[in-house]
Amino acid sequence: MSSVNVLVTGGAGFIGSNFVRSALGRHPDWHVTTLDKLTYAGRRENLHDVMDHPRHTFVHGDILDGATSGPLVERAEVVVHFAAETHVDRSILAAGDFIRTDVEGTFVLLEAARRARSLRRFIQISTDEVYGSVASGASRETDELRPRNPYAASKAGADRLAYSYWATYDVPVIVTRASNNYGPYQFPEKVIPLFVTNAIDDIPVPLYGDGRNVRDWLHAEDHCRALDLLIDAGASGEVYNIGGGNEVMNVDLTHRILSHLGRPASLITPVADRPGHDRRYCLDTSKLRGLGWTPQVPFERGLGDIIDWYAANEWWWRPIKESDPAFRAYYRTQYGSR
Ligand code: NAD
Ligand code: TYD
Repeated sequence: MSSVNVLVTGGAGFIGSNFVRSALGRHPDWHVTTLDKLTYAGRRENLHDVMDHPRHTFVHGDILDGATSGPLVERAEVVVHFAAETHVDRSILAAGDFIRTDVEGTFVLLEAARRARSLRRFIQISTDEVYGSVASGASRETDELRPRNPYAASKAGADRLAYSYWATYDVPVIVTRASNNYGPYQFPEKVIPLFVTNAIDDIPVPLYGDGRNVRDWLHAEDHCRALDLLIDAGASGEVYNIGGGNEVMNVDLTHRILSHLGRPASLITPVADRPGHDRRYCLDTSKLRGLGWTPQVPFERGLGDIIDWYAANEWWWRPIKESDPAFRAYYRTQYGSR
């Protein structure tokens, strides 16, 4: 059987590692190459069980380094481009790496994609944050982009740059805009793993502002299934929303986490709000559903299972938190007490 060469950038991160694992399991004809810089968020441990898989190659490198990333793109039939700086709070404190990796790094890959001879799909992993905050209704793929923080703006730049390489050079680009993901191996700076791991240790969970911001939660497995479908059935030059359809207010999410772990609500510590904090994201997913995709993981079960996963996998997150003595204090107080 001849194998399909799939390049996954950022494959040692949260969603990327879930994708690499599921791709190797679901596609016996794929050879997957992970290209990852191993920033603070990228970890070999995220791929521990597939690192030495016979159909997996790991390359430690920067997408911005065209000498490394270029030939990998040129050899690929499918590129799934996850690599990015991803944490909104970090982008508010210092945006430079976001512009460099998310925008310029995408440019480096797209230039190589122009030269690639057998490339049939370039998936640009964008985000629902490019739409900005939506007070009511649901964002459609054709809606105006109104990103409101440096992370979202850098992703919007990459999103449109990728589209332009389809329109101008016929690179087979598909842009996906997913909602907030949850699942195993998510860096514990993001709200679910941060709150779960703090609660396990009986330390406060810092809830921003009034806690009434709404996010639409998507299980990483459902995200991976959508990407699989789009690689084959999506149309070049198109944008697809990928949303779980689980709108939850942060304060409700927090109560669910604490109650699942049997911890008191008194752990909730209101802190000052994130500047420019988007109130709500919500995606209209009818375009993707029209291709036959529906999310399979109900949020109630998925959230419980993932809390249990973090509880059972302290080997994974405890060294991250302990290796950075400032971790707890920093993430608890970065916007100060309210
Ligand atoms: P993550 O921060 O967990 O992982 C990012 C990965 O990219 C890390 O492994 C990191 O080492 C790697 N990376 C960063 N800079 C790099 C560079 N210059 N060269 C090579 N590798 C580099 O992120 P994630 O949450 O898994 O998100 C993955 C993608 O999905 C991102 O593009 C993000 O914008 C998008 N997205 C995430 C969510 C979410 O809820 N997490 C939702 C929608 C879209
Ligand atoms: P986050 O996981 O950072 O994802 P995003 O900003 O991409 O949506 O945050 C999810 C929500 O949780 C967001 O509304 C901000 C809020 N939040 C807190 O209330 N406290 C925290 O410590 C963090 C990290 C997030």
